[in-house]
Amino acid sequence: MLQLFTRADVAALVGELYGCAPWLAERAWQALPLSSPAACKLRLAQIVREATHEQQVSLLLAHGDFSASDSGTDEAGPGGAWRMQASEGELRRMRELAAEYARQFGWPFVPDLAGPLARGLGAAQILGALQRRLENPPEMELAESLRQLHRIAELRLNGKLGLRPLLGEQVLDWCERLARHSEPPWREQGRLTVTYLSEAHRACAGQLREWMNECGFDEVHVDAVGNVVGLYHADRRDAPRLLTGSHYDTVRDAGRLDGRVGIFVPMACVRELAREGRRLPFGIEVVGFAEEEGQRFAAAFLGSSALIGAFDPAWLDLRDAQGMRMREAMLEAGLPADMQAIHALRRDPARYLGFVEVHIEQGPVLEALDLPLGVVHSINASWRALGEVVGVASHAGTTPMQARRDAACAVAEVMLLAERSAAAEPGAVATVGQLEVPGGSVNVVPGRCRFSLDVRAPADALRDRVRAVVEKGLHEVCRRRGLRAQLRETLREPAAPSDAGLQERWERAVAGLGVEAHGMSSGAGHDSMKMHRLLPQAMLFVRGSLGGISHNALESSTADDLQLACLAFQRMIEDFCVSC
Ligand code: GLV
Ligand code: MN
Ligand code: MN
Repeated sequence: MLQLFTRADVAALVGELYGCAPWLAERAWQALPLSSPAACKLRLAQIVREATHEQQVSLLLAHGDFSASDSGTDEAGPGGAWRMQASEGELRRMRELAAEYARQFGWPFVPDLAGPLARGLGAAQILGALQRRLENPPEMELAESLRQLHRIAELRLNGKLGLRPLLGEQVLDWCERLARHSEPPWREQGRLTVTYLSEAHRACAGQLREWMNECGFDEVHVDAVGNVVGLYHADRRDAPRLLTGSHYDTVRDAGRLDGRVGIFVPMACVRELAREGRRLPFGIEVVGFAEEEGQRFAAAFLGSSALIGAFDPAWLDLRDAQGMRMREAMLEAGLPADMQAIHALRRDPARYLGFVEVHIEQGPVLEALDLPLGVVHSINASWRALGEVVGVASHAGTTPMQARRDAACAVAEVMLLAERSAAAEPGAVATVGQLEVPGGSVNVVPGRCRFSLDVRAPADALRDRVRAVVEKGLHEVCRRRGLRAQLRETLREPAAPSDAGLQERWERAVAGLGVEAHGMSSGAGHDSMKMHRLLPQAMLFVRGSLGGISHNALESSTADDLQLACLAFQRMIEDFCVSC
């Protein structure tokens, strides 16, 4: 660790990390002692957050223009790689946009040129970031610029201390490599979509299996619903197991970390145990859940439902958009499509210590607090439905406005009602994410409109209040407009509070790294919600970059944050060793 004995030592370090900023150096001096590099990075970021607007902008100004060769960026390292590869045209465009940026915001464009893996960004990525960030409102862009500055400082500190987040790099590397398996047409565009039992999905299962074997798991198999299960044996046969994992399917045009991080973090930790030849007083069972996102069929959490004995036999007859039944898709994938085999996947809770899941946060909370990790205290309740409104298709030119029975207009009213009613309840959210006029034409009043509804809230009763308002509203709107409506519930999950004991283990693990263990609820659904019905569960969140954006190709995190997640996982294991 750093030996910082005097004010001058601190001022020199702060100067190396952020440039000359006596106010920052003085406050950093007052913050000593700091227990770890992570604590040091966090404290510096917090001091900058608490600083005045002028002080913050002065740091950015001191950093300089990235496109000038004498800028403060680390040109000698991977941060300088882009300059060698950029075409003349790209360089010219960058200079133009950087000048526009500086005019617009009043400070220079500050990018972390090294990227999440510290291997260097390409010119196209930098140009993309420039274009994207030019669209940000000034306050949001200031926050983003400061985060980039902290990331640059983080890499400089790592370099100074000779730190390399090898486990985090491994996790990100696996995420990148698994993302090569994607479905057409997204694959051709370098984008990611992996829905249940597609060719890409099966390729992912094969890849996970291979990597788990390489990590040193003792048993690896793909189960009857496509979950990839790796078991690392305990030091004795009858020992309990710690169950962990997350999903490897994705939404359409997804990010690369959602779900997958929760498989790779424990895999990296098991690999370390195997390398040391170390056995624990409990086994570690890592599950790559086959399905969580509910994309291909109108049912979600298929993988975790199987593990808790709640796989609904009716799901086997659900059809995908092409009309293929789940049963057929399973048979095509070489799975038995047989309820007896699926029921056999139910875990016996007596054999397990609990279920823990690591997941990217998928929201802005941790990033706004400069915190790399968060501990989930509860997962929000959720409800999903598919609806259809039926009216009368008629001529768009001849049907008077008063005589129309427009199905899409009715759904539009319901959509706005959903938005209003969720906004009126603290913590509730409602989304119509799918909206379709089947066979619609530019000159035809919509006779049918299909839509999805997704309502979530921190408590079941709150979720049900919003849901009831929307359902009632749908029927009222349709009555008034002379339309028919139907709504089919596809998911209802209660809120899942974390197990107090497991939550405390995560909190101790995170605090042991020298960073605050921020308690938070999860707005997103997770496999832990299902596992909650069978086992005590608790989740660890990892900060996402770019405002925590998720269900979006921009989803990202850094090797450093994922390293901390791995270290927290290792500490959690040690914590269990003490009490097992
Ligand atoms: C899963 O990602 C969900 O929360 O919808
Ligand atoms: Mn997701
Ligand atoms: Mn997920």
